[in-house]
Amino acid sequence: MLILAPMQGLTELMFRKVYHQCFPGAIDSSVSPFLSLTHGNLADAWKKIDDVLPEANRDSLPVVPQILGKEPLEFVDLANRLHSIGYSEINWNIGCPMRRVTAKHRGSGILPHPDEVRSILDYILPRLQPALSVKMRLGLQSPDEIFPLIPILNDYPLLSVTIHPRTGRQQYSGQVDLDTFQRVLPLIRHKVIYNGDICTPADYRHLRERFPQVQDFMIGRGILFDPLLPLRIKHNHPDDLPATLRFILALTEAIDRLPIREESRMRKTKEYWCLIRRSLPITEQQSTTVLHAQTPAETRARLHAILEAI
Ligand SMILES: Cc1cc2nc3c(=O)[nH]c(=O)nc-3n(C[C@H](O)[C@H](O)[C@H](O)COP(=O)(O)O)c2cc1C
Repeated sequence: MLILAPMQGLTELMFRKVYHQCFPGAIDSSVSPFLSLTHGNLADAWKKIDDVLPEANRDSLPVVPQILGKEPLEFVDLANRLHSIGYSEINWNIGCPMRRVTAKHRGSGILPHPDEVRSILDYILPRLQPALSVKMRLGLQSPDEIFPLIPILNDYPLLSVTIHPRTGRQQYSGQVDLDTFQRVLPLIRHKVIYNGDICTPADYRHLRERFPQVQDFMIGRGILFDPLLPLRIKHNHPDDLPATLRFILALTEAIDRLPIREESRMRKTKEYWCLIRRSLPITEQQSTTVLHAQTPAETRARLHAILEAI
């Protein structure tokens, strides 16, 4: 199974919907960018609830809502509300590396504190109506921090444990630590989902060969760099510039329908274009004309011009 990774600001409903409509079946599932329980404040999480409302997600990728936070009462409250609107699984983010998050023992900041993880799971699991899965890193400062956590995770009924084998301190730099991942894998009794640095079918094949017991892979940035990646992995799909450009056009049109200022819509369009354009077999000049478009209509016209020139 291929799962779209949660990426705040990038893989919200609009992206998931356009992706699903352009490439049905390419990705099997997704996890939403986190709903944050800042200081146990449910109102903060509720602000983003539109992203996971089942009605709005109907013609989109299946999604599992993710919660970031360590306040057990509010966690249960939010998770059970999500259950009441139709979600049977909730994902707990204990991997976020942002300093303002980790400083408060949230995200990967909780990983060096196994007792806190145990006391949260102890409180929430008997009270939780949906099933729980976890998305984590190897540790905050050291990849060895995961080892005291494993017996704790093993003590509870979790649907899956997604591991991004970096530390929080590493953020996204350096290499994924596949040696530690290999040591961790036989110790976890739950289904393990691998996540990190899958950018080509060869990356995926290498991981499948090295970890044949892992069946499920979560991909984030690789799909933004190359939206066809899941199809290349699953069906050996060849290069298909028109399909990728049509996807970008559909994304641009969807961004244009967002109820935000034109300036913000342009910024968002350019953010995606900067990620995707690298993998496209187009000239530097074609790429730059799209980047320098001044309005959404101009962006679309320039994308159409590339499409017609193929
Ligand atoms: C811009 C950005 C936003 C992210 N937001 C989230 C998030 O909301 N929740 C989460 O669990 N991980 C988040 N992540 C981490 C990704 O889900 C994923 O673990 C990470 O990018 C590694 O996978 P990749 O190499 O396939 O991209 C984010 C990553 C990026 C780059």
